[in-house]
Amino acid sequence: PGEAGSRVFTLGLRSGETAFKEGAATRTWGVNGAYLGPTVRARRGEEVAFAVRNELDQETSLHWHGMHLPAAMDGGPHQTVAPGGTWEPRWRIDQQAATLWYHPHVHGATGDHTYRGLTGLFIVDDDATDALNLPSEYGVDDIPMIVQDRAFDRDNQFEERIPLAGSLGVIGDEILVNGTLGPYFDVTTGLVRLRLLNGSNARLYNFGFSDDRAFSLVATDGGLLAEPWETDRLHLSPGERAEIVVAFEPGETVDLRSYPSPEYGGASGRLDGFADLLDICRFRAADTLSDDTEVPAVLGAAPDLAAEAVAQERSFVLASDRINDRSMAMDRIDFGVREGTVEVWEVTNDNGYLHNFHVHDVQFQVLTVDGETPPPHLRGWKDTVMVAQGRRYRLAMRFGGHTDPNMPYMYHCHLLQHEDDGMMGQFVVL
Ligand code: C2O
Ligand code: CU
Ligand code: CU
Repeated sequence: PGEAGSRVFTLGLRSGETAFKEGAATRTWGVNGAYLGPTVRARRGEEVAFAVRNELDQETSLHWHGMHLPAAMDGGPHQTVAPGGTWEPRWRIDQQAATLWYHPHVHGATGDHTYRGLTGLFIVDDDATDALNLPSEYGVDDIPMIVQDRAFDRDNQFEERIPLAGSLGVIGDEILVNGTLGPYFDVTTGLVRLRLLNGSNARLYNFGFSDDRAFSLVATDGGLLAEPWETDRLHLSPGERAEIVVAFEPGETVDLRSYPSPEYGGASGRLDGFADLLDICRFRAADTLSDDTEVPAVLGAAPDLAAEAVAQERSFVLASDRINDRSMAMDRIDFGVREGTVEVWEVTNDNGYLHNFHVHDVQFQVLTVDGETPPPHLRGWKDTVMVAQGRRYRLAMRFGGHTDPNMPYMYHCHLLQHEDDGMMGQFVVL
């Protein structure tokens, strides 16, 4: 790569050791380092190019979750990189500012490879978002937070064995934020924007602060909401992102936590860790805080697909590691969609476990949840949505920009054990 006009990012996928705990070396994987990877940042309209070098001893891939791009650049199970090999995708960034991310996507091992640490953020910027006065100084008042649960075994290695009763994979009881156990952040500004990624394989988080203070949700998976939504709790299922802005007082200390979410426990109850109260990160505010950003009353444009002509409706029933009673097959393309058209996908969770639903290449609009207007946190652009037990979600999406009759995109449950067990399908854009 590296022709005029494109920026080249070199990403090396490697193994190493990380000292999460003092005096203990945990074997991990990382991108350009031992655990996790750099934040990639690019602007709307920019051409990006990558050299993804696989320095591991097994094949893997790197998928750009949330990105609108040609299927051959998507980094899914058809774009695996052999050990020693280099993969060179390139595309033009053609979507609004958003917090996206990357992770491996090799069929049957996405969960294991992601768990070991091949994960990073991919932030897209644009002029409209820059023109707002939101906190936006990276690492100062605009903070990436990759939230992951991990279980450590007696030798301080990541526990990868799936418990006997668990269909979700490992649920850990220790929380890493950006690869750090027991993290804290020193606040120097009155407002801080947190870019939260649920980077866990299976754990659901119900974020809130220890004093139940309100915060503003300003963006979801695909970018800014039309207007901020003030809340004191926010659920994120694996793969989902949220940008929140929270206000701090000089000198105070407050914790970001994950609170129990009994309403989503369903048949699996405690086993899924939905009853857990977890400390995520401590915020320690300085005695004087600078104060020059704001949460504007108007942020972006609301998704606008509800009034569009619908070319095709499809229904997807999630149950027992299958979608519509079918298990993922690498050599079967499940359907084709027409370029430029809007489709409505109705997704139903037909069993007692929590699932979520992710579609590659597009951002979608949640039209209804069980026939009702979606709650405020589902009114922005989404690429992954929690699909609670027994509920029905109608999602509208517009396909296009990139067509390829032979190379599919994926749709799947983003609880990675479910994905690896076959709860995934493939579509092409024609
Ligand atoms: Cu985040 Cu198909 O994946
Ligand atoms: Cu994806
Ligand atoms: Cu699932």
